[in-house]
Amino acid sequence: MNHTCGLILAAGDGKRMRSKSSKVLCQVLFQPMLRWVLDNCAGAGVGELCVVVGKGAEDVRGILPEEIATVEQRERLGTGHAVRCAADFIRAHLGEDLLVLFGDAPFLFPEVIEKAYRQHKEQGNAMTVVSAVVDDPFGYGRIIRGENGVEAIVEERDADDAQRQVREINAGACWYQCGPLLEALEELTPANAQGELYLTDTLAILRGKGYRTDACDAGDARVVLGANSRRQLAQLNDIAREMVFDRLYDQGVDIPVTDGVIISPQAVIGRDTTILPGTVIKGNCVIGENCVIGPNSMLEDAKVGDGSVVKATWITRSVLEDHVQIGPFSQVRPDCHIGAGAKIGDFVELKNSVLGKDVHASHLTYIGDTDCGSRVNFGCGVVTVNYNGTGKNRTVIGDDCFIGCNTNLVAPVKLGDGAYTAAGSTVTVDLPENSLCIARARETVKEQRGLYSRKKPEGK
Ligand code: UD1
Ligand code: CA
Repeated sequence: MNHTCGLILAAGDGKRMRSKSSKVLCQVLFQPMLRWVLDNCAGAGVGELCVVVGKGAEDVRGILPEEIATVEQRERLGTGHAVRCAADFIRAHLGEDLLVLFGDAPFLFPEVIEKAYRQHKEQGNAMTVVSAVVDDPFGYGRIIRGENGVEAIVEERDADDAQRQVREINAGACWYQCGPLLEALEELTPANAQGELYLTDTLAILRGKGYRTDACDAGDARVVLGANSRRQLAQLNDIAREMVFDRLYDQGVDIPVTDGVIISPQAVIGRDTTILPGTVIKGNCVIGENCVIGPNSMLEDAKVGDGSVVKATWITRSVLEDHVQIGPFSQVRPDCHIGAGAKIGDFVELKNSVLGKDVHASHLTYIGDTDCGSRVNFGCGVVTVNYNGTGKNRTVIGDDCFIGCNTNLVAPVKLGDGAYTAAGSTVTVDLPENSLCIARARETVKEQRGLYSRKKPEGK
């Protein structure tokens, strides 16, 4: 799509959403609706983008990549007025085609944008509006077709009874030639039921000026879906959830029971992997083949290798290589890299740590700010003591070490390859290769003394 640009209207106040910020930031599958719209534009290859912002402008700018321009619409005077606010952007792209989209309609997918663009170019239109045929057209702008194609778009509140019967509606996306659009914007008037400047009026205006205009039927009623309330937002989430499942089923992923399973649209999941109930997969996760994820797990921006098993565990912004087993009830906090074949059991917390291959930490262990070699065994209750009240320090553990149960490794500390610590040791010094460290008080055993401690013997 050379010589194209896009304008996204996102200045609506979304009163019914009752959000403190902009409606377009309300989320469908963990990502703001506006993000979906941006991704759809990128997917179709639309060129430079500009977003019209209003309420919550700063928050909206906060999720936009730097290269995307914004203009502010200070008063909400209608969709036509919103586009007028971006007149400078449109002027800077004279000679190009401009796509206008709404920031609260996440399902206008790249295929539809592309289909409408092809028709727009083939017919040489000044404006091509995306339409859809819906069961209940209430509230939408109706596409009015006459002998010479589409003649006008009439809003619900301005439509007569015959027009209200029309089920082909304006989906809310239009391709324009920038030059003619600027001309039409000049001529918009608020002479309608809502007293607003309607973008939709540009169709009849362009026709009147002798330009070609037409509608492109998207062929899928879902494209028009937007959210004006939390209830509708929940419906969009349901639909989006099913769409993601459908894609994953086609790719050979098994989700035998979908209860409580929520998977972000970006997730990449390999063949023959099973996702079990109560599992949430957020952000940019990449999961390999033949894995079992869940039940009751939460993965966010995680990478999991082939053949791994994740049971009832939280993993955030970390990498698990192939054939790692983890859980139940463990947590991998950001910036961990767990080598292949690791066995991480229950109640283990990992943070900002690198573990080599085949490391075992089967129970009740904290590993933080640690660089650990391969084939290391962490006994039950090991703690890397990484915080001394003022700063964090690293623990370095060589290959083939054996860390006895209830060992404290007080960082900064370094264990050479093959080092062994006795159970209950608190280690504050570096350990040479293959050394054994016993760092605990010797037992003192006093014969018969137990009797005194329990109860004073009779007559004494
Ligand atoms: C609009 C269309 C209607 C179409 C429907 C599809 C017009 C006049 N009507 O109606 O034909 O069927 O969408 O969903 O265009 N916005 C601004 N500034 C404004 C007004 C709106 O930025 O001053 C933004 C909103 O944030 C929203 C979008 O434009 O993202 C659409 O506005 P909305 O008020 O929801 O239009 P509808 O009445 O739904
Ligand atoms: Ca709307």
